Amino acid sequence: MTYLDDSWYGCSHFGVTGPDDFDEVYATYSCDSLNLFNDFVLQNQKPFLKFLICAVAADSPPTTSSAVSSSVSTMVFFLPFKISKQMAEEAVLGFLEHNEQIKDSGEFAVEKGISHEEIVNVIKRLNGFRFVDAQDIKKERWQLTAEGKTYAASGSPEFQLFIAIPPEGISRVELQKKLGDSVFKIGCQQAIKNKWVEMGKTQVSRKVEHVDDNVKALLIKINDGEALNQEDIDALKRRKLISPQIWKGFSVKKGPNYAPERRKLATDFTRENLQSGEWKELQFKEYNYLAKGFPIEGGYLHPLLKVRRQMQMIFLQMGFEEMPTNNYVESSFWNFDALFQPQQHPARDSHDTFFLREPSTTKMLPEDYVERVKQIHESGGHGSRGYGYDWKRGEANKNLLRTHTTAVSSRMLYALAKKPFEAKRYYSIDRVFRNEAVDRTHLAEFHQIEGLICDRGLSLGDLQGVLHDFFSRLGMSNLRFKPAYNPYTEPSMEIFGYHEGLKKWVEVGNSGMFRPEMLLPMGLPEDVTVIAWGLSLERPTMILYGIDNIRDLFGHKVDLGLIKSNPICRIGL
Ligand code: PHE
Repeated sequence: MTYLDDSWYGCSHFGVTGPDDFDEVYATYSCDSLNLFNDFVLQNQKPFLKFLICAVAADSPPTTSSAVSSSVSTMVFFLPFKISKQMAEEAVLGFLEHNEQIKDSGEFAVEKGISHEEIVNVIKRLNGFRFVDAQDIKKERWQLTAEGKTYAASGSPEFQLFIAIPPEGISRVELQKKLGDSVFKIGCQQAIKNKWVEMGKTQVSRKVEHVDDNVKALLIKINDGEALNQEDIDALKRRKLISPQIWKGFSVKKGPNYAPERRKLATDFTRENLQSGEWKELQFKEYNYLAKGFPIEGGYLHPLLKVRRQMQMIFLQMGFEEMPTNNYVESSFWNFDALFQPQQHPARDSHDTFFLREPSTTKMLPEDYVERVKQIHESGGHGSRGYGYDWKRGEANKNLLRTHTTAVSSRMLYALAKKPFEAKRYYSIDRVFRNEAVDRTHLAEFHQIEGLICDRGLSLGDLQGVLHDFFSRLGMSNLRFKPAYNPYTEPSMEIFGYHEGLKKWVEVGNSGMFRPEMLLPMGLPEDVTVIAWGLSLERPTMILYGIDNIRDLFGHKVDLGLIKSNPICRIGL
């Protein structure tokens, strides 16, 4: 006894059996209904029999046959709604053995009692193997609209109205109450048109003794696929009770490979068929050189990872070293204070920054350096006036999710300052977090690309030169700069690049020269300057991949198909 597959659902089912098991099932569940079923089925289609046993009275569908006999008090037998593919295939091939053609797959399906869907599937498959030659046929058919369906079931509104009128007549108000607004309204219109009723000012009465519900009869005919004359069709169409539907089917003839039975072709030599010698008899399937084969599922690189890789290559080609960015949690000190960002700055508000609840503060800061940072904020030094406010250690200790990778740059520059000076080129590409309202172009987390060069005597000209070098490697050699403001750079410049694909100027990053108020308290020599720039990884990735909503690129709404099938990333040159 085999168990149900999905094609059987819709009943409280538990088992399905083929003709071979019929006797066994019969022996297990003999009862009156089975006899009825038996008589009917055996004469008609035992050779293809598959049937379903539905446990009506069982609390939950039993899964074994012994559970069936103990838990089921009533058994109902159904003819299958679906019969196997094999039966459909046998029907098609068998018919063509003695007949020239199947004129219409739809009529054929009805004749054989097989669903048209199944027949169509089989025809397509057989056509693929050239067992049959299938020609498309299309027919315009009519189907009932939702309104049409209700009238087919409960009668047309005019008929409902007519029979609701007693011989002595009825008041309008009462009739409307009886029928409901819509049936009353439509019923009145049609019944008057048919001259079935007399509508007085307040009373409604019958004009004829007997009427037939012609509309219902027509609707039922349509539902059964019967043809109607054009006049009736037009009338139903005008009342929006039917709508056209394109029906597709096939006419089928024998194909060049026709055989009354399709033998399954072998696809491979196996240990078994070689050992048994069976391979000599087997018919092998022809090799299909055009088949694409199964896609090999493996690890896939997200577009962001591909673009990141390209960016890394550019930095490495330009002689940059990567900074260690493996800490998402940072103290306010390194993220803001060391960067000469005053403690009242709006970015340090919880509306803009995610602060940590646990652990809420840092325990490790280099004390002498902290003291120098406090000094420069409060009263300045090295020629600066500072901000002139009361700097609080508690504010600097607060932990947060870093809002920019410049926090890492400040740590790196501080570490550099502790050793005898050496020029450096550093870069990083990693995640940062901002408490932003999420929209098409903003997420609360994204990736920043950051580069910096630390050397003696660098000027704004050096910064512009490096940016030209960097961005032309990204395919943007046409740059413009716009003065900007960052607490930690002076001068600062927004970078715009002319995008050849989009044919417009797009903002591509932010840059500047780190302020002496940031570098000197670290202990870097006075003649050392640092030029730096930053941009997001998401923005160029979206431009490269033609994505206009950042949520389609990153986050829980991303279509995994994009990750699996995105093309190789090629930037620039
Ligand atoms: N930290 C800046 C930002 O978050 C980018 C930047 C880096 C600007 C370095 C200037 C210098 O946008």
